[in-house]
Amino acid sequence: YAQDKKWKIGFSQVTTIEPWRAQFNKDILAEAAKHPEVELIVTDGEDKTEKQVADVENLIRQEVDALLVSPKESAGLTGVVQQAIDAKIPVFVLDRNVETKDYTQFVGGDNKLIGRAAGEYAVELLGGKGKASGNVVEIWGGMGTQPAHDRHDGFHEFTDKEPGIKYLLDQQSGDWKQDQAYNIMATALRNNEKIDLVYGHNDPMAYGAYLAAKDAGREKDIKFIGIDGLPNEGVTLVNNGELTATFTYVTPGAEGLRQAIKFLNGEKVEKTITLPTEKITKENAAQVLKDNGL
Ligand code: FRU
Repeated sequence: YAQDKKWKIGFSQVTTIEPWRAQFNKDILAEAAKHPEVELIVTDGEDKTEKQVADVENLIRQEVDALLVSPKESAGLTGVVQQAIDAKIPVFVLDRNVETKDYTQFVGGDNKLIGRAAGEYAVELLGGKGKASGNVVEIWGGMGTQPAHDRHDGFHEFTDKEPGIKYLLDQQSGDWKQDQAYNIMATALRNNEKIDLVYGHNDPMAYGAYLAAKDAGREKDIKFIGIDGLPNEGVTLVNNGELTATFTYVTPGAEGLRQAIKFLNGEKVEKTITLPTEKITKENAAQVLKDNGL
C-alpha cells in the first residue's frame, strides 16, 4: 500500500489515445511493477496544454519525490516545469522538451538524427544523391513541439541539397493525428497530379496519408515514410507494404523511470539520455516482428 512505499513519483502524460503514448504508458507501468518501493501516479493531459498544466500543479501539491513529464508542447509547459523545479522537485523531461535547461534530466530520442536518416533514405528512394527528383509532401507533427522541428530540420539537411526535389506543402501540421494527415493529403492529391513521396513526422500521419492516397487510387505511385516504428503499428505497416519505411522511436517510459529512481537513490544521472533508433524497411520488418513475438 502507498504508505509503505519509499518514493512517490508523478508522471504527467500528454495523452493516452495515440498508439505511441499507449505503448509509453505500458512501458512505464511495466517498469514500475518491478519496483515495489515506488508509488507511481500517472495523469492524462487529454492532449490539452491547460489540462496537463493542471495535472502537473496537482502533482506538485501532492509533493511527489520526483516528477516525470512528457509535454504536449514546449512553451506551454515550461512555466509549470519551472514551478516544480522551484519547489525542489527533481524533474525528468521525456520525449518533447521544454524551454528551460534547469530540469534534472531529459530522456528521449535524437529527432535530428532520425530526421537525417529519413532524409537520406528519401533521397535514395527518389533516385540517389545528386540526381534525386520528385514531389514531396511533408506532414508536420505539432508545430509547438521540438520533435517536429528536429524531424523537419534533419530531413532537409539531406533533401535540400537535391535541386530535383520539390516540396508541395508549406508547413502543414497534422498535429500527430492520422485523421488530420488524411485530410491534408486528400487536398494535396486533389491539387497535385504527381506526388512521389510523403514524409509524415510519425507513423499515424504517414498512414493517414497512405489511406487518402489509397482512396484516390494513387497509393502505388507514392512512397510513405513515417517515424515511431512500434511493432504492432509502423513495423506491421511496413511489412504489409503500406509504409515504405519507418524509424523506431523507443518510448522513454522504462528508462525515464529507472533514471528517476536512480537519482532518488542518491546516484548521479546524466543531463541527457538519448535513446537509439533503427531504420525499418521491407528488408528487416519481418525479422523485427518475429523478434517481438508477432
Ligand atoms: C505521440 C507522438 C509520437 C511521436 C511523439 C513526438 O504523441 O506524436 O507519435 O513520435 O509524440 O513527440
